[in-house]
Amino acid sequence: MATFDLDGWVARSGALDLTGIDWAEVPRHPVPPEAVRTLYYMQDIESHTIVYLRSLLATRAVDDPEVATFLACWLYEETFHGIALARFLEASGHPVPPRPRPHGRESLAQWLEARATALLSRAWGDFCAVHMTWGAINELTTLTGYNRLKAVAGHPVLGELLERIMRDESRHFFFYYRQAEQRLRRPGAAGVARFLVDHFWGPVGTGVGAPGEIEFMAKYLFAGDEGQVAVRKVDDTIRRLPGFAQVQLLEAWMDRHANGGRT
Ligand SMILES: [Fe+2]
Ligand SMILES: [Fe+2]
Repeated sequence: MATFDLDGWVARSGALDLTGIDWAEVPRHPVPPEAVRTLYYMQDIESHTIVYLRSLLATRAVDDPEVATFLACWLYEETFHGIALARFLEASGHPVPPRPRPHGRESLAQWLEARATALLSRAWGDFCAVHMTWGAINELTTLTGYNRLKAVAGHPVLGELLERIMRDESRHFFFYYRQAEQRLRRPGAAGVARFLVDHFWGPVGTGVGAPGEIEFMAKYLFAGDEGQVAVRKVDDTIRRLPGFAQVQLLEAWMDRHANGGRT
């Protein structure tokens, strides 16, 4: 298998280009209240990336040159997504309110999750296989969520902004997915990764946002036939990873948490 072209990947990394985004045009088009609520959630999760990174820095991810270089670029890009979404919300008359609890102050559940992640990394040499798989799933659901938001919100400036953010998200997805494909082929790696995804995976932001918000967002973005097609496409893509052929992911989560993905 060809090695991953990290230099080429890094060369395309950079801050989100906001050149030509017409912020003055934003308030001239309605933003549906459901879209505002969804954007609050997405902005919060983008801004939370630095906290995800904190727990990853306690793992063997930092010892892998490709992964460590990627994570530095990834944090930089995700940070600009949070800033850009906050700027859009502000321009539309919905400034982002202060968080009830700062991002850096973890709940007990988040602290335990970070410790468990560090322990798993210490005990298992192929930890990065599950990290890359997890990342691929989360980037793909994020990319799909933004694509659906662009469609359902119908706001021209938001649509342009999301197009640009999606270009970054699809590069993030590509990195994680290619890495996962390679690492899951190592002996035993797919079995452990699959067990962890089966038992612990939830959509990105689970346990970070206010209770009920992720379910609200999922219903808003993935309602109807087009939403269901998008959900199935996520699952079908991840099922092409080694050992993941039968995995139950977003569609199953929708059925459990969002009053059924089938509408
Ligand atoms: Fe992002
Ligand atoms: Fe991303």
